[in-house]
Amino acid sequence: MNIVISGGTGFLGGALARDLGQAGHQVAILSRSLGSGLVRTPAGAPAGLRHVGWVPDGTVGPWSSALNGADAVVNLAGERIAGVRWTAAKKARIRDSRVLATRSLTAAFTAVATPPRVFVSGSAVGYYGSRGDESLTETSAPGEDFLALVCQEWEAEARLGERAGVRVAIIRTGLVLDRAGGVLPFMSLPFRLFAGGPTGSGRQFVAWIHLADWVGLARWAIEHDIAAGPLNGTSPNPARNADLSRAIGRALGRPSWFPTPSGLIRLALGEMGDALVLGSQRVLPAGPLALGFSFRYPDLDRALSAIFAR
Ligand SMILES: NC(=O)c1ccc[n+]([C@@H]2O[C@H](COP(=O)([O-])OP(=O)(O)OC[C@H]3O[C@@H](n4cnc5c(N)ncnc54)[C@H](OP(=O)(O)O)[C@@H]3O)[C@@H](O)[C@H]2O)c1
Repeated sequence: MNIVISGGTGFLGGALARDLGQAGHQVAILSRSLGSGLVRTPAGAPAGLRHVGWVPDGTVGPWSSALNGADAVVNLAGERIAGVRWTAAKKARIRDSRVLATRSLTAAFTAVATPPRVFVSGSAVGYYGSRGDESLTETSAPGEDFLALVCQEWEAEARLGERAGVRVAIIRTGLVLDRAGGVLPFMSLPFRLFAGGPTGSGRQFVAWIHLADWVGLARWAIEHDIAAGPLNGTSPNPARNADLSRAIGRALGRPSWFPTPSGLIRLALGEMGDALVLGSQRVLPAGPLALGFSFRYPDLDRALSAIFAR
C-alpha cells in the first residue's frame, strides 16, 4: 500500500511509519522541514520511506500530488501540547496547526484525480474534557474546555474528507506509553530518583495505551473498511493516577510514596496542568472492541513491564 502520514516525523507518526515500512508498505511523510512538494529520502531510512515537504496552512500546494492515488492518509500533524505553558499565542498554535493541517488534507482530497480510500485522522481524549468517574465512550457528549473545543473543530475538519468519498476514521488518542517517547520518560524520572508518587488527589482517571496497541489500532483502521467515525485509542482499563504511579513504581522497582500536590501542579503548569495532569478521563475503547480490534496490552502492569524490560 501507499500511505501518506502528516506529522510522520513525530512520536506516533514515526512509530507508525517504521511499522508500516517493516511490513513492506511505501510511506510518504509530510513534513514542514522541506519546501512544498520537495522530496527527500532521509539517510538510513528504510526502503520505501520518503519525506515530502508541505505547508499545512489550510490550502492545497504542490505537495498534494503525494496524495494522488494513495491508499491511506494518516493525519498526526500538530503543535506540541505538553511542554511550555499555554499562553494565548501557544493556544492559537495548538488549535490552528491541527485545524489548518486537516483542512489542507481534506481540500487536497477533492483536488487530486484519485483521492485516498481512507483518512485516519488524529484526535485526543481531550475531546471529553474532565469528567470525574463517568465512563466515556465514543457516543459520550464532548467537554467544554479548551482542548475539548480544539478536538471538536479538528474532528469536524477531518469529517469534511467524506465529501470526496473517503472513509474517515478518527482516533481519540489517550496517553501513549513508551520508553523512548511521549510523556512516560518524563513521568518516570522522579521514580528513578526514588521521588515518584501520585499527582493531585491521585483519584483522577488516566486513559492510557501502549504504543504498540496505538500503532496496531491505526493500522487496523487503515485495513478494515468497518472502521469509520470516532474510535477511542485507549486501553480497556483506564487507571486512576495513583494506580498508574504504583504500577510505574512496581515496573521500575522503586517506591511511589511522594505525592505532588495539585497547587504545585497549577503553579508550575497553569491551565495545562488542569487539563493534562489533574483532569479525569475514564475513557473506554467501546468502538474498537465492538468492531473486533484486540489489544496486546490491555493490562497496565504487563504494558509497563514490557516497556521497561526492553
Ligand atoms: N503522544 C501522545 O500521548 C498523544 C496523546 C493524545 C493525542 N496525541 C496527538 O496525536 C498527534 C501526534 O502526536 P505525537 O506525540 O506524535 O506528536 P509530536 O511528536 O509532537 O509530532 C507531531 C508532528 O507534527 C508536526 N508539527 C509540529 N508542530 C506543528 C505545527 N505548528 N504545525 C504543523 N505541524 C506541526 C511535526 O512534524 P514536522 O516538523 O516534520 O512538520 C511533528 O513531528 C498530535 O496531534 C497529538 O496531539 C498524542
